[in-house]
Amino acid sequence: MTEVAVAKNSTASTSDLVVLKSVNKHFGALHVLQDIELTITRGEVVVVIGPSGSGKSTLCRTINRLETIDSGEITIDGKPLPQEGRELARLRADVGMVFQSFNLFAHKTVLENVTLGQLKVRKADKKQAEEKARALLDRVGVGTQADKYPAQLSGGQQQRVAIARALAMDPKVMLFDEPTSALDPEMINEVLEVMQQLAQEGMTMVVVTHEMGFARSAANRVVFMADGRIVEEATPDQFFSNPRSDRAKDFLSKILHH
Ligand SMILES: Nc1ncnc2c1ncn2[C@@H]1O[C@H](COP(=O)(O)OP(=O)(O)OP(=O)(O)O)[C@@H](O)[C@H]1O
Ligand SMILES: [Mg+2]
Repeated sequence: MTEVAVAKNSTASTSDLVVLKSVNKHFGALHVLQDIELTITRGEVVVVIGPSGSGKSTLCRTINRLETIDSGEITIDGKPLPQEGRELARLRADVGMVFQSFNLFAHKTVLENVTLGQLKVRKADKKQAEEKARALLDRVGVGTQADKYPAQLSGGQQQRVAIARALAMDPKVMLFDEPTSALDPEMINEVLEVMQQLAQEGMTMVVVTHEMGFARSAANRVVFMADGRIVEEATPDQFFSNPRSDRAKDFLSKILHH
């Protein structure tokens, strides 16, 4: 218990929520994250874009410690990422993650998917967990699907359940790794709208996406990565109208003319 109390007391009251300092990571000979410096403030929406293989997913995965780093430091709310055990489970709850593939538990109902973490990690009361789950499912527009199994839902509905599941843990920050790229076109907007709403409500978000409309309208900042480095950071307006680096110009000319 003491360590929890200490950890709470040491929680920085600054506006910095996620801080990466000199972060390096290799996969064998590949230097996949190179001296990454990134600070995400409370309530900020950061869109990460860049060519395939530039390290965007790896960056997200290091923030909730699905990947370890070789050197540097990552802190969430002033605390270094825990190594293992219950502290790590709590970190994963604090850092909500939504992946390209929906990652719901196939053998559990939608409602159970959204209550599970609350019961196991947050030790919530069952009735309260269900009430909260239903409210969140309503909020993302799938309240009527609560008793179905994931396979009975469309991709867009499943992805919204995945968002509700992450939100049920009251995360400090939400990470989205290409949440719409596995969806049929007609389902993309329903997911982006939920994300847009979250952004407006002040959720701190890191979003890897190719949806430039979302980046323009929801992002406070665009981070452009190439070859494991952050090459450029700017407001969406600056970035899209006046990219500075050749890599960003080249990337934008390819994606915007498709
Ligand atoms: N577990 C792993 N083992 C070895 N190499 C990996 C592993 N995961 C990723 N890589 C490599 O690291 C590099 C960065 O991968 P990452 O998935 O972070 O890129 P990305 O920017 O998300 O790309 P995409 O836009 O295609 O999703 C790639 O060259 C990839 O092949
Ligand atoms: Mg990726």
